[in-house]
Amino acid sequence: METMLSAIKPTGRLHLGNYIGAISQFIKYQDEYDLYIFIANLHAITVPISAKELRQNTKDLIALYLASGLDPEKVTLFLQSDVDAHAKLGWVMTCTSYVGELQRMTQYKDKTAKGETGITAGLFTYPPLMAADILLYDAKYVPVGKDQTQHVELTRDLAERFNNRYSETFVIPQPLTSTVGTKVYSLSDPTKKMSKSVTDPKGTIDLLDDPNVARKKIMSAVTDSIGIIQYDPENQPGLANLLTIQSVLTKEPIESIVARYEGKGYGELKKEIAQTVFDFLTDLQAKYKEIITSGKLEEVLKQGADKANYIANKKIRKVYKKVGFTL
Ligand code: TYM
Repeated sequence: METMLSAIKPTGRLHLGNYIGAISQFIKYQDEYDLYIFIANLHAITVPISAKELRQNTKDLIALYLASGLDPEKVTLFLQSDVDAHAKLGWVMTCTSYVGELQRMTQYKDKTAKGETGITAGLFTYPPLMAADILLYDAKYVPVGKDQTQHVELTRDLAERFNNRYSETFVIPQPLTSTVGTKVYSLSDPTKKMSKSVTDPKGTIDLLDDPNVARKKIMSAVTDSIGIIQYDPENQPGLANLLTIQSVLTKEPIESIVARYEGKGYGELKKEIAQTVFDFLTDLQAKYKEIITSGKLEEVLKQGADKANYIANKKIRKVYKKVGFTL
């Protein structure tokens, strides 16, 4: 079985973009790949977050992974901070990166361009840590949304650089984005991506939102004045976004939804999508509640960390030998 790896940062509440761009892909692949999925909590402190919030987000995230259908018997599920090798290889990768290439990373560039103050050094060096996350496990594929592919490209460069400098050590990974839903947009401004930022509550559907509130958000989603139901992301980005959401959640191809709505209005389509989202959240949250109160989370994380540590420690020992740390 080929190895696949991905992660989510517990920085805020998970939203539909995370589900569609990332989690739904993980579920699809868990039978076919040796899959490692973790909670990127080392990445979460690159922006200010209280210990209480981080703890709550972490519990929610693992419970939502399980509620979505990730099976701990098939997938290695763990907490990044439970595997020390991430921080160790992260440092080696930081020293393999050039300042110039990190300055080109979009997230950092956007924040500095906006003149934000208080940007941490960790936010600047987080891409090499992400490279370490991937390279420790010889992951061949990394399923992510579009906003993360740049980091996987950097990972490829760093892996090649290290391999050339020392000798063959790392597998060169490939980003995997799905054909539908690789970028879910804000419902209130479909030119922006749906994100964990708290400034756009109407545009974002949190996975733990009250399903009735989520229904309203879909009904008031921004569309256009063209009035024809077709898939045209360029001219009708709001509509294309809604069609994407419906398609991923129901597995019905976009063309088939469009065909069913020939000659009909946006209102009717929105009603169907609002119902889909309502049902999806109701079902997910029922499972989430059961899992979060089951007391099983620690056990799942312990089992995952044991396996992850075994694999990651083998890799870090190799790296330490190659760079000359081991005498
Ligand atoms: P994070 O936590 O920002 O996002 C988690 C996943 O959700 C996807 N995503 C989206 N997909 C579609 N539409 C959206 N609006 C949307 N918003 C987010 C992201 O692309 C991502 O796949 N650095 C990573 C976490 C990470 C990681 C890794 C990922 C750390 N180490 C190693 C893969 C491999 C991050 O901040 O993702």
